[in-house]
Amino acid sequence: MPVSPSFLGNFSFKNPFSIIQGLADSHNFASRGSSTAKNLCHFESVTPSVVKLPSTPEALQQHLVSEYNKAEAEASASDLSAVSSIMSIDLGIIERQYDKWTDLMPRVRPFFAVKSNPDPEIVRTLHEAGAGFDCASAHEINMARSVGADGLDDIIYANCCKFPADIAHAKSHQVPTMTFDNTDELEKIAQISPDAKCVLRIVTDDSNSVCRLSNKYGTPMCDVELLLDTAERLDLSVVGVSFHVGSGTSNPQSFAEPIKNAAKVFEQARERGIEMNLLDVGGGFPGDDNGTVTMAQIAGVINPLLDRHFPDPNVRIIAEPGRFFVHAACHLSSRVMARRLVSEESREKDDPEVLYYLGDGVYGSFNCMLFDHYVPPAPAVITDRPLSPPQHSRLFGPTCDGLDTIYESIELPLLEVGDLLLFKHMGAYTIAAASNFNGISKPLVRYIST
Ligand SMILES: Cc1ncc(COP(=O)(O)O)c(C=O)c1O
Repeated sequence: MPVSPSFLGNFSFKNPFSIIQGLADSHNFASRGSSTAKNLCHFESVTPSVVKLPSTPEALQQHLVSEYNKAEAEASASDLSAVSSIMSIDLGIIERQYDKWTDLMPRVRPFFAVKSNPDPEIVRTLHEAGAGFDCASAHEINMARSVGADGLDDIIYANCCKFPADIAHAKSHQVPTMTFDNTDELEKIAQISPDAKCVLRIVTDDSNSVCRLSNKYGTPMCDVELLLDTAERLDLSVVGVSFHVGSGTSNPQSFAEPIKNAAKVFEQARERGIEMNLLDVGGGFPGDDNGTVTMAQIAGVINPLLDRHFPDPNVRIIAEPGRFFVHAACHLSSRVMARRLVSEESREKDDPEVLYYLGDGVYGSFNCMLFDHYVPPAPAVITDRPLSPPQHSRLFGPTCDGLDTIYESIELPLLEVGDLLLFKHMGAYTIAAASNFNGISKPLVRYIST
């Protein structure tokens, strides 16, 4: 994927940031918790340390160098494999995103889509802020319950096609609210969890989204009566409607038709004597305001439609944002672990001059390039050397697969093995699906708060 010079944005080859090694260790940043920060990609009940940082690029870069050095020293002392990368999660950004949400859409309670970044500290931070959780499995339910989320009020099991065992798990963990979009799922729910509060997911036009979901989920409006009939026959309670406009929508108007359709379903239910009380407007919200659509624009569409079509304050309105909370909150740093200078003789016209091999790649955090259609922003180079003029380069991940390519073509100053690259905005659908392919470790997770 060629990266044009304009894509490099504010990346500056002049005025390189000079790292003073050790400075970050000697500052007075406060930290929360006493245990050593650990790799918490997987759920653990340890309270890790959270380092308070000023909100400046310099402070972040100094901190990353220090964390990286520490992590590598720990890894080599304990004979662990190499540190592939570090994901720094800024819990301060998560908190500010929560505040932004409640400012812009006070009537809509966010239920964080855990799948977007199933990190226990993110889940804890959002629970403490007041969010609920959209869980897709028993494991995610456990994670939400473990930070104190209430099964009835704070969790929706928002997966239309559930493992039977997970329905039983939800029931035994007092999580009654769950979505469905087909009659077989209703049969399953009736058998395993007859007191469930079922939420009917309707299909949307997701053509404005980056990651489409309507090919898989959501009942067409013409089948709503059939599903309501089936629920009635099975004596199941249908309490509301949900939808998802697709992840990463570029058009705020995507929300308009599904909200109106949800109001129609409420009316269809009312005609049967059922008073629905839950509307779930799903996910699809942007992770920052730098793209084609801002959160304020989306709120500007959703809020008046809710007032018009759902004026009853007894109708609980929720959403399932994932990307919105985590995208900008996570910074990935990784070292150049190998390099090949391409000889003049072997180089064809558009070939790169230098090949770099990074500690993390598409089988790790950069899986977002395949699964989330994400183009990571050009990295900042953290080094204490003056940066040379940009050269035509290619950046690979660490595995033995040629597919493991982060940038087919990128302009970078001449880097050396050991240089750290910093990629910002790497929080959504990154570590969530990272693997250990080739025996390479997943990113270490560290917490900061700005
Ligand atoms: C059911 C459901 N809810 C919420 C989300 C989160 O979407 P987003 O990250 O776009 O907000 C997803 C993403 O796939 C989803 O499948």
